[in-house]
Amino acid sequence: KIFKPCDLIIYGALGDLSRRKLLISLYRLENANLLEPDTRIVGVDRHAGGNAEFIAIVQKNLQEFLNDKIEDTVWQRFSARLSYLKIDLTQLDQYQQLKTVLDSKARVAVNYFAVAPVLFKDICKGLSHCGVLTAESRMVMEKPIGHDLQSCKEINDAVAKVFTESQVFRIDHYLGKETVLNLLALRFANSIFTTNWDHNTIDHIQITVAEEVGIEGRFDYFDKTGQLRDMLQNHLLQILTFIAMEPPVNLEAKSIRYEKIKVLEALRPITLNNVDEKTVRGQYSAGFLKGREVPGYLEEEGANVDSTTESFVALRVDIDNWRWAGVPFYLRTGKRLTNKRTEIVIYFKQLPHNIFSDSFRDLPPNKLTIHLQPNEGVDVQILNKVPGIDENIKLQKTKLDLSFSEAFKKSRIFGGYEKLVLEAMRGNPALFLSREEIEQAWIWVDSIQDAWQHVNDTPKQYQAGSWGPVASVALLARDGRAWEE
Ligand code: BG6
Repeated sequence: KIFKPCDLIIYGALGDLSRRKLLISLYRLENANLLEPDTRIVGVDRHAGGNAEFIAIVQKNLQEFLNDKIEDTVWQRFSARLSYLKIDLTQLDQYQQLKTVLDSKARVAVNYFAVAPVLFKDICKGLSHCGVLTAESRMVMEKPIGHDLQSCKEINDAVAKVFTESQVFRIDHYLGKETVLNLLALRFANSIFTTNWDHNTIDHIQITVAEEVGIEGRFDYFDKTGQLRDMLQNHLLQILTFIAMEPPVNLEAKSIRYEKIKVLEALRPITLNNVDEKTVRGQYSAGFLKGREVPGYLEEEGANVDSTTESFVALRVDIDNWRWAGVPFYLRTGKRLTNKRTEIVIYFKQLPHNIFSDSFRDLPPNKLTIHLQPNEGVDVQILNKVPGIDENIKLQKTKLDLSFSEAFKKSRIFGGYEKLVLEAMRGNPALFLSREEIEQAWIWVDSIQDAWQHVNDTPKQYQAGSWGPVASVALLARDGRAWEE
């Protein structure tokens, strides 16, 4: 429930994030009648001249990035909400213009920082200087929130000078994805999972976030970042906390965050002593994706040919707590892999004795697979009797298969941003990251990054279009396991 009408102010409204994600998501919300009638959207940037030009750019942008047709009536409603302020975000005096729009205490301002973090400080200063902030104002920001603990703290400190922690909404767009949220439902609304979710029944867990895309013209950013910081520090660790956390007391932000932080604190550090056996870094070489030839990482546009930045990472993660003792979590993520596939696979333990040795020498364990991308769904691998009147019972692996698009034909599945932008406007922080949580994640990731720096080895090559370096297979093979293929 939105208690007061809301103004969404997008700083960097003509930047990449805004054009590719935010404005598209807002249009989709409009299309689904999910924006409150009195919500206004204010674009702040320095590239467009005024309202008319901004609105024309937004329309063109929708034509480019929205995969559907723009509906006339929806566009009429949507464009009527849009307005624009030409502000150079580094110029303090220009923020005064905000006063012409954010003029009433009867409205809540949601300030979306869709710009590079170097500008965060300037925007905070500008906002406090022009006096438009109220106790109800909110700010939304998203990764990269620093590239290590220190820089993350600096950003959080700068923001904290102007906004209290309860006003800050840190986005990880994976937390808006349907299937990530469904983890809460699966785990805490189904007794078969609540009672079978620990070291007694689970053997190990795999989380794969495989991307088909390469660097997408972002070499400069990516090369300073790498896949560990770009994907694992945030998206994969968030998925991991949702799988591993204890049942929260309720669905409020405080309760969920409390449980997630406990998981992050229990992650066993990866240091110089164990980095070789627990991590694999990879970098793609030229190869083929769906029959198309693609360049290697070092041949990408703008590439630094000596770069040793990883575009693939695989880890064995141990969680040192009562529930997960002895249950490894294997995480892998990489660019230019065989196809886009995000999934969580929970491998249950092997049974202690096999009475069906005619069918299987070793009974294959049950497997619960949660598919996040490209198609949302959940399936469970079970063993079933093959129908028939043979003398011996014959078993076969089968799947209890739930595809969301089939099972929920009438529901529309939204992307992560739609959900999160709406939650920020509603003022519900449950799906956003707290300062403590994000800093705790950096502590753990910094230790890996430091260890890599000491070891100073070059990443293992893998061909674009493959599943990553061979060493990633070896990481699991050492433990007698294999990646789900
Ligand atoms: C972003 C990363 O956070 O997530 C990108 O910066 C990555 O490098 C993207 O490609 C993946 O998001 P999704 O939703 O397509 O899995």
